[in-house]
Amino acid sequence: MGEPGTFVKAGRKGGSFPGAERGQNGQVGGPGSHPWCPLAGELPTTRHNQSTKHKKRAADVLTFPSRPATLARNPPTSWLKSFQPTHSAMHMFDILVLGEINVDLILSGDARPEFGQVEKVIQDATLAIGGSGTIFACGAARLGLRVAYCGVVGQDLFGRYMLEQLQARKIDTTGVIVAPSLKTGLTVILHHQGDRALLTYLGAINRLQAEMVDRELLAQARHIHVSSYFLQHALQPGLADLLAAAHEQGATVSMDTNWDPAERWDSGLERLWPYVDLFLPNEPEALAIARADSLKQALDTLAARLPLVAVKRGAQGAVARQGGQTVWDPGFTVPVVDTTGAGDSFDAGFVYGFLHGWPLAETLGLACACGALSTRAPGGTEAQPTLDEARDLLHSRQAP
Ligand SMILES: Nc1ncnc2c1ncn2[C@@H]1O[C@H](COP(=O)(O)OP(=O)(O)OP(=O)(O)O)[C@@H](O)[C@H]1O
Ligand SMILES: [Mg+2]
Repeated sequence: MGEPGTFVKAGRKGGSFPGAERGQNGQVGGPGSHPWCPLAGELPTTRHNQSTKHKKRAADVLTFPSRPATLARNPPTSWLKSFQPTHSAMHMFDILVLGEINVDLILSGDARPEFGQVEKVIQDATLAIGGSGTIFACGAARLGLRVAYCGVVGQDLFGRYMLEQLQARKIDTTGVIVAPSLKTGLTVILHHQGDRALLTYLGAINRLQAEMVDRELLAQARHIHVSSYFLQHALQPGLADLLAAAHEQGATVSMDTNWDPAERWDSGLERLWPYVDLFLPNEPEALAIARADSLKQALDTLAARLPLVAVKRGAQGAVARQGGQTVWDPGFTVPVVDTTGAGDSFDAGFVYGFLHGWPLAETLGLACACGALSTRAPGGTEAQPTLDEARDLLHSRQAP
């Protein structure tokens, strides 16, 4: 067992991190049709029901190449209006997310704790979907993409809540492992005067291993998204082989590492570069990973290794580099309530444009619109936009 310890994030990032715990008896499986995918008591995660549903869904879809078309350099000006969503008939899912799963408990008002057994009454408390990967998955599903998820939860109330929330958004959870020996991860977010403090219990957050990822599910996805790479210690050793297999099957790969709690900024990332098609750090992360002093230097370094990089810059928008093309987007001004998960909603928008072969500038614009709109309500998923909402915001900027 790893030692319990503090886990402090700067925003949603940063801080120290206890060593990855092993399950008491290494047990993550149980009875079920997949060795890593137990039927898990009452939790509604049986593979049979879900695959029946997907067969039906797959029959309705239109054809689409398994890899996105290269982003056009000179797109027709009508591209945005004429755009129609397309799906791949070859794949059941547009995206398979390999990520962490946890709940967020958001306490707001004067949520500064006072020790000495002082009981304070605060203004609001919200239980919300937490975790970068799950917020990304919800954002992508909201945009109309067919999403499947691989991660680990405990066999408890929070695990059940997360499964229900994902399933309510039509996200396939047959790849989610319910581990009876673990507790579902939890972050308590304390708001006070525009600032926030975060307390995280890792639990099952970092227990996904490459061997747990159902290869059938992998083959059914045209795109793989890896979230919070630095947090996913158990996934790191086998990830390169997994992504290589996905690439071989024609899938593309995106990755958002988020902050490295250990601040080493490596953890085998170099081995993954050949399999990452789209890299989605924020600015401090990009600088740290590239060991650069400026954004330009970071972009130069990352673009030398990766075909497409988009760097998120908070209220200042984002920048993307693809080959020799660099696009800056100033972002959108919106009434901000909570920026939790803005980066994950951005990622969902970017992957949407990427998978549909949108031009780079419009892909970046959609991503910024998704990030900005997601800040309108507390939590990461509540205000995530539909495709129409995000496109309306884009159009409003493009209107003369
Ligand atoms: N305050 C804001 N106002 C408007 N847009 C915002 C704001 N914050 C974020 N965004 C939008 O969301 C995008 C992603 O946000 P951000 O740069 O905070 O990502 P991140 O640091 O990866 O976030 P996360 O905390 O989810 O990891 C930005 O590029 C921007 O378009
Ligand atoms: Mg982020």
